[in-house]
Amino acid sequence: MDAKELIQLFKDWVKREKEIEIDLDPCEEAILEYSLKDEPYKQMKIPSYAPGTIMIIKGPKLFKKLSEIIGTDVNKKNCRLVLDELLKETKEPVREANTKHLSEINLHINLREAPDVSDFYGREKELSDLQKWVVTESCRVVGVLGINGIGKSALVRELVEKVKNDFDYVIWKSIEYSPSLAEILTDIECYFSSSSSEIAIDRRTTNLISFLTDHRCLLIFDQWECVMTNGESLDNEQKYQYERFLRRIGESAHKSCLVFISIKKPGVIDRFGHRRNIQQLSLCGLEYQDAKTLLTELGLVNPGIEQLIEIYKGHPLALILASEPIKNIHNGQIYEFLEGTIYIPDVMMGLLDKLFFYLKSLEIQIMQKLAIATEPLLISQIAQFFPSKGEIGQAIGHLWQLRLIEQADILAGDKILWVLNPLIKKYIKRRYN
Ligand SMILES: Nc1ncnc2c1ncn2[C@@H]1O[C@H](COP(=O)(O)OP(=O)(O)O)[C@@H](O)[C@H]1O
Ligand SMILES: [Mg+2]
Repeated sequence: MDAKELIQLFKDWVKREKEIEIDLDPCEEAILEYSLKDEPYKQMKIPSYAPGTIMIIKGPKLFKKLSEIIGTDVNKKNCRLVLDELLKETKEPVREANTKHLSEINLHINLREAPDVSDFYGREKELSDLQKWVVTESCRVVGVLGINGIGKSALVRELVEKVKNDFDYVIWKSIEYSPSLAEILTDIECYFSSSSSEIAIDRRTTNLISFLTDHRCLLIFDQWECVMTNGESLDNEQKYQYERFLRRIGESAHKSCLVFISIKKPGVIDRFGHRRNIQQLSLCGLEYQDAKTLLTELGLVNPGIEQLIEIYKGHPLALILASEPIKNIHNGQIYEFLEGTIYIPDVMMGLLDKLFFYLKSLEIQIMQKLAIATEPLLISQIAQFFPSKGEIGQAIGHLWQLRLIEQADILAGDKILWVLNPLIKKYIKRRYN
């Protein structure tokens, strides 16, 4: 059956079964049609929509909408399978293998809140480390850390594809969508008990842990940073509940794994993170070859690709966003684009604003000093600007972990010299000077 027919049948199904009219705009309809034909995002030609917008904004929104309507995880990869299964009553029978696959998805895998990632490049080492920790070594808690847009969620989504058959249940929750732990527990509890929201959080955690002991579950908590701030705005009780939850999942004996994805490491991890079954990965940009593949797939060609990747340090989202003006305003000429100053798209400014919100004021002040320094600086030189010298090392360590600052190519004797990431330098100059 061709994609258009399938979409029409699906619309009829929604009207009949859900008693609503599904509201797909022409762009969403085109994305669905291409996806049903298994075309990658980069091949989608939709008038007035840039590939980046299709891939980052419109596509994910469409699949979230479909997931909510259908009540199961729908993404670019499985949409054909899901619609085939859904509509099998109304059209010719689907192949048996497909049906089996879908029933697995329906029963035990809930990725409704996960991003849809179909074009994924590289990260072999990271994937093999994560796979080892999550499957072979049965770690109880695994953290994936890094700045916004560096590819944390995409990496973990790819990991899920590789390991999902090793687990009885895979459940992805985004803390951004439901910041209260009680709500998240309610969603997870529907798999193993009737709602018990009257019971205190600690008891509910105990119940969850016994479920995690009887069944092998992979829980993914994305955007953990949403429950960590520098003290303001967030309800302290909520923050405490999450910390305690994480500690209990890490300390109790069970056969499941909680993967948390976050900009910043939760403080509680330092207090129990040395244990063998707790691991964490700090994510840097893509390797050159993989970033090059990403840009090539987005339609960019040399010359200039190498410089572009170097400037953005392989940051996938920054590269995707920069590819738009290169194609639209500079007719694909990367050097012409690079000649100006470093471009920071508004979306990226917004992401960096969010990231900076989680930083301590000392960390921001250190970056401000590095932004105006004409040469790389030693830690001792940076410390001279501040009265509280004791905290400088720790702050530098955190900024380095997030790759907001970098080690210069040269050493001063045997000492490390520090510089700002060029993108961050530009950001700081725009925001703070
Ligand atoms: N390895 C990769 N290959 C291709 N695209 C990637 C890769 N990693 C990230 N991306 C893309 O970069 C963007 C940002 O990635 P995302 O995982 O959302 O970052 P984070 O979760 O760290 O904020 C997304 O559009 C994602 O699809
Ligand atoms: Mg993410």
